[in-house]
Amino acid sequence: MHFIKLNNLLVIALVSTSLLSSYAYPGFNFDWGGRNHGSRGGISYGLSPQFYQFSCPQANDIVMSVLEKAMAKNMRIAASLLRLHFHDCFVQGCDASILLDDSPAIVSEKNSGPNKNSIRGFEVIDEIKAKLEEACPQTVSCADILALAARGSTILSGGPNWELPLGRRDSRTASLIGSNNNIPPPNATIQNLITFFKRQGLDEVDLVALSGAHTIGVARCATFKQRLYNQNGKNEADVSIERTFYFGLKTMCPRSGGDNNISPLDFGSPRMFDNTYFKFILQGRGLLNSDQVLLSGGVIKTQELVKKYAQDEAFFFQQFAMSMIKLGNLRPITGFNGQVRKNCRRVN
Ligand code: HEM
Ligand SMILES: *[C@@H]1O[C@H](CO)[C@@H](O)[C@H](O)[C@H]1NC(C)=O
Repeated sequence: MHFIKLNNLLVIALVSTSLLSSYAYPGFNFDWGGRNHGSRGGISYGLSPQFYQFSCPQANDIVMSVLEKAMAKNMRIAASLLRLHFHDCFVQGCDASILLDDSPAIVSEKNSGPNKNSIRGFEVIDEIKAKLEEACPQTVSCADILALAARGSTILSGGPNWELPLGRRDSRTASLIGSNNNIPPPNATIQNLITFFKRQGLDEVDLVALSGAHTIGVARCATFKQRLYNQNGKNEADVSIERTFYFGLKTMCPRSGGDNNISPLDFGSPRMFDNTYFKFILQGRGLLNSDQVLLSGGVIKTQELVKKYAQDEAFFFQQFAMSMIKLGNLRPITGFNGQVRKNCRRVN
């Protein structure tokens, strides 16, 4: 373990001594190169909130102004962008792999089961990237844009702010298989969910807090139909759904057809980032199976967290912010590896 004091910033690096002899990247991007796996203990190696302090100080302002305009047109974009960062980070780390289009060299993640006909917000990312390329050419990575957009969307929806580590670089690859295998499905059991999150180094606290992102946005009928008509392969509904809510859902999500009809994930305040998502789960009105099982799945730890977050919004906000930092620190590419894409849809 090495401690390096750098501009009053204590950088704690867990690297092997052999790596120390390699060339250090100049400036704030203090890293020895290599794809680091650093978020253990909540410390990220190589990412820093000051990363663009000199190279592009206006980066966050540019992101926020594009977001404000996009949200004035349609609030849902905040939810879509928050989800985009999640689906990026769970597949080979937060490296903007999700933004790559199909090409001779790339099999796009956009066509995976969890993403196809579902994930959105790419045009807004393009717009942010175009503005950033004008202001600071080839400086701000697409992976950092996704992280900045996720935080900005949370803030502009009324949620918490946090100090965001930056300095991720963009991948040259995507993984369709990784996208199919690593993003949890909406009909997941509580054990499935815990396993998917553990695989990323995230725990039950992160699972429940980050699921709170479902306080904004919508889901298609196809993603919760099984709960209404065939929860256990016996042509029965999920018994944990509150009755009035259940009948309401059935009218907009019929047994056959209507797969693309959408419902808010948080019926209480679908555009507001708050803790009503958890209050609704306590009432049996979680929309997805993966939402409701946080309470009803038989795991005491997640059950108690749902209750705590429903009671105490400030506590939820605080934990959400911490878990978002952990999410954003998943296996970033730093140093000389990867690249800063000029166009988020293709490698340079
Ligand atoms: C815990 C496991 C999770 C599962 C099973 C899950 C599943 C889903 C599904 C099925 C949808 C609707 C997709 C559609 O209708 O096509 C959705 C929407 C959404 N998810 Fe998740 N999700 C999970 C965790 C997360 C996390 C960790 C975040 C962010 C931190 C997140 C953010 C969102 C948002 C904001 C939406 C609404 C998107 C929009 O309106 O465009 N989800 N999720
Ligand atoms: C979830 O849905 C998929 C696809 O419809 C199905 O194959 C799987 O068995 C379901 N899982 C559970 C736990 O119900």
